[in-house]
Amino acid sequence: MKLTIIGTGYVGLVTGACFAEMGNSVTCIDIDKNKIEGLKKGILPIHEPGLESVVVNNYKNGRLKFCTSLKDPLAESKVYFIAVGTPPGEDGSADLQYVLAVAREIGQCINDYVMVVDKSTVPVGTADKVKAAIQDELKKRGVKVAFDVVSNPEFLKEGAAVEDFMRPDRVVIGTDSEAARRLMRELYAPFMRNHDRLLFMGVRDAEMTKYAGNAMLATKISFMNEIANLCERLGVDVENVRQGIGSDSRIGYSFIYPGAGYGGSCFPKDVKALIRTAKDNNYEPKVLNAVEARNEAQKHVLFEKVSRRFGANLKGFTFGLWGLAFKPGTDDMREASAVVLLTALIEAGAKVKAYDPVAMPVAKRDLPRTWFDNGGLKLVDEQYDALEATDAMILMTEWKPFRHPDFERIKKILKNPIIFDGRNQYDPAMLRGHGFEYSGIGR
Ligand SMILES: NC(=O)c1ccc[n+]([C@@H]2O[C@H](COP(=O)([O-])OP(=O)(O)OC[C@H]3O[C@@H](n4cnc5c(N)ncnc54)[C@H](O)[C@@H]3O)[C@@H](O)[C@H]2O)c1
Repeated sequence: MKLTIIGTGYVGLVTGACFAEMGNSVTCIDIDKNKIEGLKKGILPIHEPGLESVVVNNYKNGRLKFCTSLKDPLAESKVYFIAVGTPPGEDGSADLQYVLAVAREIGQCINDYVMVVDKSTVPVGTADKVKAAIQDELKKRGVKVAFDVVSNPEFLKEGAAVEDFMRPDRVVIGTDSEAARRLMRELYAPFMRNHDRLLFMGVRDAEMTKYAGNAMLATKISFMNEIANLCERLGVDVENVRQGIGSDSRIGYSFIYPGAGYGGSCFPKDVKALIRTAKDNNYEPKVLNAVEARNEAQKHVLFEKVSRRFGANLKGFTFGLWGLAFKPGTDDMREASAVVLLTALIEAGAKVKAYDPVAMPVAKRDLPRTWFDNGGLKLVDEQYDALEATDAMILMTEWKPFRHPDFERIKKILKNPIIFDGRNQYDPAMLRGHGFEYSGIGR
């Protein structure tokens, strides 16, 4: 089938590449010309395990194409996926300007029946707005063209996006059109060879499902962080508690790791957007408010520990930071807890030497220039170099090479044998046995 994907970011590029891998003819569009030129040369704009070979191979065999405009003849197709960003607006609501701009462009181009699929995470009611925007453009052109708008929220995880897309737990499809239902079933059939995991529902149900899913996961994290902070005050080992409750099959082990708060481009903005939706509907979202508040506070817990240990004024101190990405497996630093910590440390006068296995080009591009120019932040190319002659080590992202490092070497190169562990990766008893001062989340 011929498909067009609009927005070539984490979701759009993975969606396009995976559909091309299954034999479809896919055109990925992005308004960012550098991104598209890079992709044509085999340069990926994001780090995502396994993605590069799928993109490069399918580009070479002609099933995957790239262009910068829906008006390009390459972009013509029967199915249009909208995968542009939906960042938080000032009031927390999802900013739909990019989605609706794309809808208008689609309305300006189409001449025969098309199916428009919302893959971006969008609030309940957005499909109706997309429909109205397309309709409006058709009216301006004085033409009548049949089309369907389908909601197909994406559930992939950064760091395992290709794997998730190829073997989804489920594919949620919101539509009331029989034609769209048939097309979507055909499109996803190659991903369902083992057994059917398509969940058909109403358009608004599908839109809500995505938010409810992310809000549930965020709730588990914030809940556990609250328990961890309480454990610390009670002298209870939160890691034992985590295993104790995770073993209950009704609870499970996933998403109950205590840590320095959740970040990324999805949970923070989606929880905020759902809160906004609730408020716009005169409903006070007490649980969601608490989830969001706990997370905001949690992002400061490690800094509070550092300043309790070294003082509020950190002038003259240098810290070695391991991890910048919001989680392992990705170079995405949007809303990363490491950025909140860096801001607080630098504002308190500290210097930081940081290392991340993949996110450093993004850090160089996106972090404030003044941090680098004033010597507040230095990025180094090797993980132990980040710790050399610093006052303490801080772990913020649980990349595999950080999980079992050479602690003897760390002890030798740090000025003080102090570790702040923002992801509870290390065994405090073991480290204390080796003469380290240890401080984690909830312990
Ligand atoms: N990143 C994730 O893990 C993830 C997972 C599930 C759902 N989502 C949702 O998917 C959507 C996209 O997220 P993302 O992380 O891929 O975003 P992203 O920022 O990585 O990519 C969005 C892309 O859209 C492009 N764009 C914007 N306006 C455009 C236009 N008019 N025409 C063509 N391209 C345009 C941008 O240049 C950018 O490259 C969001 O709604 C997000 O919430 C993201």
